[in-house]
Amino acid sequence: MEQDKMSIRAAVFDGNPEGTLTVEALQLDEPHHGEVRIRVRAAGVCGSDRHVLDGEWQVPLPAIMGHEAAGVVEAIGPGVRSLDIGDHVVIAWHQACQRCAECTGGKPWACTRAKSNDSLLPDGTTRWHDVDGPAYPYLAVGAMSEAIVVPEFAAIPIDRRVPFDVASLIGCSVGTGYGAVVNNARVVAGESAVVIGAGGVGLSIVAALKLAGASPIIAVDVTAQKLESALEAGATHAVLGGESLAAEVSDLTSGGADVAFEAIGRTQTMSQLPSLIRPGGRAVFVGLPPEGQPLEIDGLQLAYEGKTLIGSNYGGLVPARDFPRIATAYLAGLLPLDDLISTRISIDQVNEAFEAMRLGKRTRSVIVFDDDAAGTTERDR
Ligand code: APR
Ligand code: ZN
Repeated sequence: MEQDKMSIRAAVFDGNPEGTLTVEALQLDEPHHGEVRIRVRAAGVCGSDRHVLDGEWQVPLPAIMGHEAAGVVEAIGPGVRSLDIGDHVVIAWHQACQRCAECTGGKPWACTRAKSNDSLLPDGTTRWHDVDGPAYPYLAVGAMSEAIVVPEFAAIPIDRRVPFDVASLIGCSVGTGYGAVVNNARVVAGESAVVIGAGGVGLSIVAALKLAGASPIIAVDVTAQKLESALEAGATHAVLGGESLAAEVSDLTSGGADVAFEAIGRTQTMSQLPSLIRPGGRAVFVGLPPEGQPLEIDGLQLAYEGKTLIGSNYGGLVPARDFPRIATAYLAGLLPLDDLISTRISIDQVNEAFEAMRLGKRTRSVIVFDDDAAGTTERDR
């Protein structure tokens, strides 16, 4: 049984300089010990995939792209105890070892034994093959495929009432944004906040800030459309980014925000971040820049004004704890996650979705594999 393979359609990147994907059939092995096969029902199109397609980050090729997925458990390998066939799950893309000091200390995102960044399952292999040999699921997920195989602990059960398209976002952009606010910045009610970048991650930060009771919540972007989305997600002010940003934020917050977030991954806006916070404030770095680009930060201002710089990786999430909390807040009407999805597409339209992202045109595209995987809202932005 273990050697059985099935043919699965997936969006594959071969490293071409145009950064385009082809949808092709690959072979997927049966789940090994401790693994499950998930029938993917929805997969988000995330900024991190674009970093790879645009050559900013190197990954093993050919790569099955996508890392933001929700679906249904379809097959379970030997030894799996916590999941049943038919369970609805959200996938965690950082497949931590579960045993080291970081994992047991509540920081699984810091586990250095995880092989997710090398597109490998925890045992150092992949379950994917094409005619020439192994293929590599991006971040050990490869969400843009009809089915995937992941370790049992990376598939987090979720309330069945959460639509799959919304659930997929919890696995990356929404989880990252929520975690940046709740776990990394520990925002409390009444604090002022600014968020640079109103894409899928930035809007999730805005929504989580509203949930936490922050005010004002100032969203910054370079496109008017994104700013409109930010106001709908809970921002109290929307500001076009530029040279005068620090002065505008200072005016709106009487001397600087308590907490500022960068959710783009541009070294220029990351360097600007400490200038937006008041003395004693926190600057949280969520966006991931290209490899090897240093930041320029005013050291005197940083030390003298006692500012804190916080690196945020995967929102400091503990997926098995935080994914269900996010789902609960959504089901209670406290997190407007439907509004974060701008466009639902088929897997064959994936290149259009990345092109729209490069042009700053869409909030979040989500690939849906069946019509009933989608919630109800449909917007063209
Ligand atoms: N100033 C303000 N906003 C900007 C600027 C700028 N100079 N340049 C781009 N933006 C905006 C874009 O208009 C877009 O709305 O930043 C947003 C980026 O959003 P997406 O491309 O949708 O990316 P997202 O998926 O949100 O990811 C953001 O977080 O996890 C990381 O790897 C991810 O680095 C990426 C970042
Ligand atoms: Zn992502």
